[in-house]
Amino acid sequence: QETEKGAYPYYMLKEVSEQPAVMRRLLRRYTKGASLQFDVKLLAALKDADQLYIVAAGTSYHAGLVGQALFEQLAGVRTTAFLASEFAYHQPLLSQKPFFIFLTQSGETADLRQVLVQINAKNLPSLTMTNVLTATLAREATFALDLAAGPEIAVASTKAYTAQVALEALLAKALGAAKGQAAAKAFDVEHELSLAATGQQALIDQQSAIHELAKEMFATTRNAFFIGRGTDYYVSLESALKLKEISYVQAEGFAAGELKHGTIALIEPGTPVVAIITDPTTAARTRSNAEEVEARGGKVLRIVAESLAEPGDDLIVPALNPLLSPLLTIVPAQLLAYYTSLDRGYDVDRPRNLAKSVTVE
Ligand code: G6P
Repeated sequence: QETEKGAYPYYMLKEVSEQPAVMRRLLRRYTKGASLQFDVKLLAALKDADQLYIVAAGTSYHAGLVGQALFEQLAGVRTTAFLASEFAYHQPLLSQKPFFIFLTQSGETADLRQVLVQINAKNLPSLTMTNVLTATLAREATFALDLAAGPEIAVASTKAYTAQVALEALLAKALGAAKGQAAAKAFDVEHELSLAATGQQALIDQQSAIHELAKEMFATTRNAFFIGRGTDYYVSLESALKLKEISYVQAEGFAAGELKHGTIALIEPGTPVVAIITDPTTAARTRSNAEEVEARGGKVLRIVAESLAEPGDDLIVPALNPLLSPLLTIVPAQLLAYYTSLDRGYDVDRPRNLAKSVTVE
């Protein structure tokens, strides 16, 4: 039964463990032979747009940030992710031909609905990517796509995040191909997503080692930082959110280069900092930021792509196109959060003060 825990102590661990299967399910759902299967009307509407506006909240917003890079680089279309609660009341100037993408696990988040009502009133085109196709946001948008992650029960979102990133990649590839973009042609999304599934499994298989790292890093700490650049920065934001949601550690994600502009003042002997390093363009710079933390007594855990690994790195993630690295780097971060919450004796699946679906603004 998809909605039962089975042998898992918590839904969160079950859902983290399901991610490789979700990647494969999305591939089956959206590919046929060598071609991608998307509604021709949806692709035509996207092709017609001069800018994509991704609107989301929480974890889904963090997946939307990764989507910016995917749509810009693969499909050559200007793309910006917005927090729904901000966009609703402080709308930026819209482009001539905007297209809206609502990213939402539940399909019911009130902050997003507020935006959708406004853009429907202006007759602007939209797509909802959701795990619940019968939900309000799916019904009220012009188009809807299924995240196919299966029911997500734990309050902390895990497999919906990776499903969102993977589905954005599939759609960005399809759009880029329809527009004749060279970058899309060179990006073998099916191959990359099956590599992602295998890589995720390899990381899940290291859960006892990750549990040890969680103890070393976060057992008693009151705060923690995650740093990275580019998509590694976006994963840092999501990693910090996971940790704070379920373990109540005050965790923050930062752009690694910004550390020296303020956050480094918070580093004391023993402060835990996780550095995520998967982008060859910035790897050396993030490494030196991590060393600055260590020079001030901070305790650094390095999560590094295989091709960039150096002796002493703590966790190596398998090779994957850097655009999709969040599909891998988030897995150890999810597990670090899970074990920290578990070891501190909290109810992992039902953190205090939080709801799975937030239907008030
Ligand atoms: C709630 C949940 C978060 C989720 C956010 C957005 O705050 O606790 O895990 O990321 O809502 O939800 P959505 O269903 O729109 O993705």
